[in-house]
Amino acid sequence: MTLFSPRVFSGMQPTGNLHLGNYLGAMLNWVKMQETNECIYCVVDMHAITLWQDPKALRQAIRDVTASYLACGVDPKRSIIFNQSQVPEHAELAWVFNCVARLGWLNRMTQFKDKAGKDKEAASVGLYVYPNLMAADILAYKATHVPVGDDQKQHLELARDIAAKFNNDYEVEFFPQPEPMITGPATRVMSLRDGTKKMSKSDPSDLSRINLTDSADDIAKKIRKAKTDMDALPSETAGLKARPEAENLVGIYAALSSKTAQEVLNEFGGGQFSGLKNALADLAVEKLAPIADETKRLQSEQTYVDSVLAEGAARARAIAGPIVRDVREIVGFIVS
Ligand code: TRP
Repeated sequence: MTLFSPRVFSGMQPTGNLHLGNYLGAMLNWVKMQETNECIYCVVDMHAITLWQDPKALRQAIRDVTASYLACGVDPKRSIIFNQSQVPEHAELAWVFNCVARLGWLNRMTQFKDKAGKDKEAASVGLYVYPNLMAADILAYKATHVPVGDDQKQHLELARDIAAKFNNDYEVEFFPQPEPMITGPATRVMSLRDGTKKMSKSDPSDLSRINLTDSADDIAKKIRKAKTDMDALPSETAGLKARPEAENLVGIYAALSSKTAQEVLNEFGGGQFSGLKNALADLAVEKLAPIADETKRLQSEQTYVDSVLAEGAARARAIAGPIVRDVREIVGFIVS
């Protein structure tokens, strides 16, 4: 077995604002990981255009997401931060993977079915081969660890299958088997309006999510207006079963305070929701308002943000360039 040195790669799409779910499910973990690992964090703009994006809004969203990465504490000295389209090796390796992955594999991808909706004939071809590009993102760096939400597990399985088939077909031990890391203090943050749906940037109700750019007043208001049920809070976590809104608010409080759900219930169990909501509003404002302020500050520093992305792209390319050059060699192209 070839040993691959550990390298972390992850990415987010620049479509809409980042929200509390991204923060607790991903960003906190990204920030922690860079303490002990080589980390590469990508703004996946090429994935974004698998669905229609207005060009002006896309360019803005790339900068906004980058500002959020930085405001959350991703450190451009330690980690590589860049946008995908500035490193052409992603597209090049994705083409090779289009020729490695099988139609049958892609036909099983559940996210394509969800995103394409009823009229599959009208979906872009890019949306269909989206997972091949994602595999290229990861494997262009021979990344070994990939922090993702549980909705991306199937895509990561595909990346592992592509890596294995490439190695097998060309009789090399070239690509590692990247491992998903489904971590973060809260991997499932739910909508504040409906505890059975994930918090999402595409929910039409802005009250359903806390954006990482929301003001202190908005944060507090959204938590006070969050949906609840009629009962008092339980004293044991078992009592949260079948009470999705209670479970969500307790989970968010736990994640923001680095406590367990049971510790939160030791404090608030038996009480009404208002007690938990007041404390949660204060805590969320304390943790998130400074991030919102810093994000807004960085949004007005376009030259700086663009320079972070340019420098990140150069560093990324220094890693991906030689790897993709080897791929050209392996598949039988002429490398000059
Ligand atoms: N598909 C991922 C998502 O929507 C984003 C993504 C693209 C990604 N390329 C990646 C995540 C590579 C991890 C690694 O969440």
